[in-house]
Amino acid sequence: MFETLTAAPPDKILNLSVLYKADPRPEKMDLGVGVYKDASGATVIMKAVREAEKRLYDSQSTKTYVGMGGDEGFNKGILKMVFGDNADLSRMFACQTAGGSGALRTIADLLKRAKPDATVWLSDPTWANHAPILKAANLPTATYPYFDAASGAVKFDAMLEGLKAAKPGDVILLHGCCHNPTGANLRLAQWEKVAALLVERNLFPFIDLAYQGFGDGLEEDCAPVRLLATKVPEMAIATSCSKNFSVYRDRVGAVILLGKDAESVKIAGSQALTVTRVLYSMPPDHAAAAVRIILEDDALHANWKAELEDMRLRMLNLRKGFADALRRQSNSDRFDFIADHRGMFSRLGLTEAQVDRLRDEYGIYMVGDSRFNVAGLKEDRLEELAKAVVSVL
Ligand code: LMR
Repeated sequence: MFETLTAAPPDKILNLSVLYKADPRPEKMDLGVGVYKDASGATVIMKAVREAEKRLYDSQSTKTYVGMGGDEGFNKGILKMVFGDNADLSRMFACQTAGGSGALRTIADLLKRAKPDATVWLSDPTWANHAPILKAANLPTATYPYFDAASGAVKFDAMLEGLKAAKPGDVILLHGCCHNPTGANLRLAQWEKVAALLVERNLFPFIDLAYQGFGDGLEEDCAPVRLLATKVPEMAIATSCSKNFSVYRDRVGAVILLGKDAESVKIAGSQALTVTRVLYSMPPDHAAAAVRIILEDDALHANWKAELEDMRLRMLNLRKGFADALRRQSNSDRFDFIADHRGMFSRLGLTEAQVDRLRDEYGIYMVGDSRFNVAGLKEDRLEELAKAVVSVL
């Protein structure tokens, strides 16, 4: 049986952690996988999560199955987190999933059932796992222009033009906030134009919302999806708690569907649950229950929001500090875009060979397309890093 297989290539992002761990150099820097780290380089359990886990431990009396959609309190909480306390949820469905990737795959399979001939349009570039997930669901993909490497900004006109090639009923995958890997995001006025185009051309928005709270703020990061929800008849959102609750390994995310009416979204939701049933039967409970406890308790909720805000502000300061250091070291404004970007990542605009040199000569690890994790930067090593970057240019 297995002799028919050839070895799979290492995952371009996750394998960086393996290489980093094996590197004996004490001065090494990990700017690879998208995991938040504090100033000491640790990915700590958030205080509110720790407290919620204690309460869960004290109150949980059984480990029996929760149900196909996971924790219903969690699902309600996530809907409010994304759409606000007073949102009209009558046309919405949410179910807990095994992480944001579980949500992406669930939506992909659902779309394949709903519209087998739809093409999914991806931004160029996009997260390295998007295309493989869609391919696994047998959905054809195409790309639309997005990032202008020279300026570090979104090529908005080219993006709108490119999207015009999509046929009615096609799916447009958009990053709700904090574009991964570029950190370049649409402004709200641009989202308005995208929404108009989606409606005019009958295109279906599929939103990846993996970094809510890491960009401009917990509420601000949802302004685009909230705007879209007032304009488009239908939409699917894959959200993740990996980053904003720092529960990466526990795999907590959600599928959110917006339907034309209550009945149609109920039907779509029932199909989504049969997708997850065959993928993994039901999502893991533990951290989703902890998230639910946080979202339902005013004091814990406030603590979590404050801690998340500290993380966001720290990343913003690091962006500014790194852009300043690069300005000094390179004697140019070439890297100023880093301070304007939002979220966990930006791309330095280096070649793969230059990224390899950073790793080999300095022990600096980043993805081959020169995407670096802002949270991996160290306040007291920005100048040193900037110097290394400039030395490989
Ligand atoms: C990343 O982009 O680094 C994260 O989303 C981790 C992953 O699974 O790729």
